[in-house]
Amino acid sequence: MKNPDSLFQQTHDEYVRTRYLAKMHNHALMNVRFKVRDAYEASVKPEFEKKHGRSPETGHEISKAIEKNLFYRTYSSFRYNAQEMVSQSKVAAVQRKLPEMIEAAREIANENPAGGTLRTNPDLELPKYITAQHVHLIPGGYHSEYTEDDVAQGVLLGVKQAGPLINPLRDFGAVGSSVSAWLKHAYPDFTPSNVLDMGTQGGSNLMTYDAAFPGIELYGIDIAGPGLRYGHAKAELAGVKMHLSQQNAEKVDFEDESFDLVVSSFFFHEIAVPATKRILQEALRVLKPGGIMVNVELPPHKSCEPFLNFTFDWDTRHNNEPNYRNFRSQDPTQLMTGAGFPAANTFEQTLPEVATYPEDKLADVWDGKAEAPPHGRGGWFIFGSRKA
Ligand SMILES: C[S@@+](CC[C@H](N)C(=O)[O-])C[C@H]1O[C@@H](n2cnc3c(N)ncnc32)[C@H](O)[C@@H]1O
Repeated sequence: MKNPDSLFQQTHDEYVRTRYLAKMHNHALMNVRFKVRDAYEASVKPEFEKKHGRSPETGHEISKAIEKNLFYRTYSSFRYNAQEMVSQSKVAAVQRKLPEMIEAAREIANENPAGGTLRTNPDLELPKYITAQHVHLIPGGYHSEYTEDDVAQGVLLGVKQAGPLINPLRDFGAVGSSVSAWLKHAYPDFTPSNVLDMGTQGGSNLMTYDAAFPGIELYGIDIAGPGLRYGHAKAELAGVKMHLSQQNAEKVDFEDESFDLVVSSFFFHEIAVPATKRILQEALRVLKPGGIMVNVELPPHKSCEPFLNFTFDWDTRHNNEPNYRNFRSQDPTQLMTGAGFPAANTFEQTLPEVATYPEDKLADVWDGKAEAPPHGRGGWFIFGSRKA
């Protein structure tokens, strides 16, 4: 059985181009983004203050005031193009081997060495917030399928770029480990027998719960088929039994009170707010009494200063993530209680990334005795609640 990833072979020039673009994108995101503050402080803010007699109070006000600033415009177009070109630079290598990748995934699914399951649903109606744009400027987005049993978008989004991670603080696959380590500390009595990951894509975060809670049954749903096919193949090859199904998280086909744990990561900010509310109600429905929901997400507006809100919300208009700002304007605690979770059990905090934070100091941060690194720079914001 062949790993679909092993079929992703870039030519020398393609490889170098992807590496270069990924570094360029990382530089825009992690360095130049914060230099925009200098331009803001030097001219945009004083001009705003002169005109309005006060400083900008929201990220949105800053984004409107800064629009014509030359440094900001240069940064913005640099970042937009770097982001778009990274995934474009991988497309040719996926296309060249796509029939073999599909065949490899089919063969693994037929043999099913780990005993997981894959249910796709070609009739599933895709919501507009998924089809109206290609999220993250990725050609084809999550959902596009061009041929039967297509895995192209799964590989494109999931394949680890050859070579070391460019920024080890941003290994998105590791957020599941950070959440489960915290869960064990915060709820020592809690030993989930199963977990549902909503918006699991290829299940890379879901997979980590197996190591944290041996014997736990892993369930993942996603609206998009290609990532699930790719994720199923990868999990089966890794010997991890995952049950993946193509479903809309707004209405899933699991029975009431089926899960001990429901998780999500980087999911809600891509979803329209009314759908978010339906999904949280659905999570409450499928949780058993005493079950926990934990979501890794962007921190809300209320917990960040205006300039940080402005830099986070850049994606709303420039990264095909139209729901980003609206999601961040919500109060996560109110979202949870609005869905019916008990207010007393609701939590919001930033967790240290376990792979990079000193192990002997983790508990201090978990217990609020030390500050967590900022979200996306060594820390991950979470919100959630425990069902009564
Ligand atoms: C940013 S990705 C996050 C993937 C993964 N959780 C992670 O942490 O890497 C968001 C995922 O949510 C999925 N998604 C969006 N809307 C959905 C919905 N209504 N139901 C299920 N999945 C959805 C997308 O297809 C995509 O795979």
